Amino acid sequence: MRVLVIGAAGHVGSAALAACLSKNHIVTALLRNPSKLPPKLLSHPRLHIHQGDATDHASLVSAIRDTDTIIQAAVYGSTSPHGTSDSEKVVRCIIGAIQEVQANPRRSKERPIRLWVMSGQVMMDIPGYGTLKEPMIEGDVFPIHPEHYNNYEFLQEEAGDVDWSLLCPGRLDQGEVRVLLYVIH
Ligand SMILES: NC(=O)c1ccc[n+]([C@@H]2O[C@H](COP(=O)([O-])OP(=O)(O)OC[C@H]3O[C@@H](n4cnc5c(N)ncnc54)[C@H](OP(=O)(O)O)[C@@H]3O)[C@@H](O)[C@H]2O)c1
Repeated sequence: MRVLVIGAAGHVGSAALAACLSKNHIVTALLRNPSKLPPKLLSHPRLHIHQGDATDHASLVSAIRDTDTIIQAAVYGSTSPHGTSDSEKVVRCIIGAIQEVQANPRRSKERPIRLWVMSGQVMMDIPGYGTLKEPMIEGDVFPIHPEHYNNYEFLQEEAGDVDWSLLCPGRLDQGEVRVLLYVIH
């Protein structure tokens, strides 16, 4: 499978990149600064580097054109220092680029592109931790959480027929998943 990992040098992005390569997928890493990848990865035979910003429409369209699946991890994470990112703009740009690519008749016989958007466990209705509307998990102490809520709302209302899911992991330490993965679609 051809996988595009957006934000491939971050905590989640680099773990996703390594996992996809270990499963023999053909991977494209979209990132602003390729020197942030481990040097030995840069010569991996199944890894293509696409240097670009995830808010750049033309760059996204060219990276998405030949992909089956996208993992969107270009969001600043849950590890300190906690900050905000432009993930809402990124997610909108990715949806726009997928829609443009899929509208091309050349792709009409291919399966729709599968989009996985990194979110967080704060989005889940987990027994004992409140609900999506009234979350109790970590409150909203992390500035990134409102971005997750807004991305979910945007995808539900505006993503049209794009085939998307949210990935909502718990905290990741050094690439290790410490809490089960949950998925909202
Ligand atoms: N880490 C965790 O424990 C954890 C747990 C649960 C959920 N999550 C979720 O997973 C997602 C990613 O978290 P993370 O910990 O991997 O974050 P991270 O380590 O801060 O990495 C984010 C990456 O996104 C890239 N990026 C940001 N804006 C970009 C843009 N416009 N264009 C291209 N790249 C861009 C950054 O690239 P630059 O280096 O160029 O800035 C960076 O490599 C977030 O949604 C987070 O809430 C993380």
